[in-house]
Amino acid sequence: MNIDFHELMNNAKDAAKNSYSPFSRFAVGAAVITPSGKIYKGCNVENASFGLTNCAERTCMFTAYADGVKKEDIEAIAIYTPQDHAVFPCGACRQVMVELLSPECKVIIGYKDNEDIVISSVSELIPFSFTSEELKND
Ligand code: THU
Repeated sequence: MNIDFHELMNNAKDAAKNSYSPFSRFAVGAAVITPSGKIYKGCNVENASFGLTNCAERTCMFTAYADGVKKEDIEAIAIYTPQDHAVFPCGACRQVMVELLSPECKVIIGYKDNEDIVISSVSELIPFSFTSEELKND
């Protein structure tokens, strides 16, 4: 399937509008797409107990999984912040990506109103990762 990265990014941008970020005022939106073209969106959701904050990427991946989507069904994830430069996902989200996305899943980063996007992949963003393979003790 040919993914329209800019359309996916527009969905991530749209999701950022729902960001609940009264503490950081740092809005983030994310969107994933499946082979059928279905899109799931997520935004960051903060908490007064800061450690309970959920990043946009994780909200988005969890939302897709909650609807029955599986690892191999996700072709790309777009992440948007209204900053003046590209902002890359935090380490925690990268580890969740290793669990819930395939290594070759595209990770698309967009920012501000820029048409420029950065295209990476899960394996590029988190090489030498800790995976469920390590827990198999046969
Ligand atoms: N945040 C994300 O949503 N994704 C990231 O990859 C990095 C940080 C959010 C969490 C918090 O609501 C705000 O950005 C500032 O850290």
